[in-house]
Amino acid sequence: MNDNPRARAWFRLAAVYFAVGVALGVLMGASGDHSLFPVHAHINLLGWVSMALFGLIGTAYPSVGIGRVACAQFWMHNIGVPVTLAALTLRLKGVDAAEPVIGVGSIIVGVSVLLFAWLIYTRIGAQSRAAQDTGERRVVI
Ligand code: HEM
Ligand code: HEM
Repeated sequence: MNDNPRARAWFRLAAVYFAVGVALGVLMGASGDHSLFPVHAHINLLGWVSMALFGLIGTAYPSVGIGRVACAQFWMHNIGVPVTLAALTLRLKGVDAAEPVIGVGSIIVGVSVLLFAWLIYTRIGAQSRAAQDTGERRVVI
């Protein structure tokens, strides 16, 4: 497998979310206060699981992690997720004013996910089609 800087950034971020998500899980278990469980669930799923998958997919198919769309996807996810989860934490603690921020943050995450889907459809298929068109053998990484 290749090393690539974008995948490495995803893996490092994923590890941070994993540590924070599990720490929150342990705190919830220890305290018996499960009120932040949706924050815990989404730190683990939008952070640890999704980011580790972005990193793994970007390692298997490096072209998915290159270029301006990949850069926009990276930053939108990395801004949208913490903003949404911080606002969700406040909302669950009774700060009603945080609700619109959850909406805006989750739309940013939603757009990042659409960009990721676009990258998957255009980069992975396009690579193998281009290789077939030019008669090259497909390089499996
Ligand atoms: C030592 C590690 C962990 C601990 C102690 C822990 C603890 C907890 C606790 C106490 C809850 C609340 C349950 C409830 O009130 O219904 C919960 C919910 C949840 N956790 Fe964890 N968790 C851990 C790791 C993880 C990981 C790694 C993931 C995902 C990759 C995860 C995903 C979830 C999800 C999705 C829920 C919500 C389940 C539901 O809808 O009821 N957790 N966890
Ligand atoms: C911006 C993206 C997302 C938004 C806005 C969102 C929103 C929500 C909402 C509103 C709920 C119901 C919460 C409740 O009834 O208290 C929920 C639950 C859940 N979502 Fe998400 N979700 C997102 C992404 C994801 C992703 C990527 C995954 C999995 C990889 C996921 C897994 C879950 C699970 C397992 C639950 C049940 C546990 C819980 O209630 O926290 N979500 N989500």
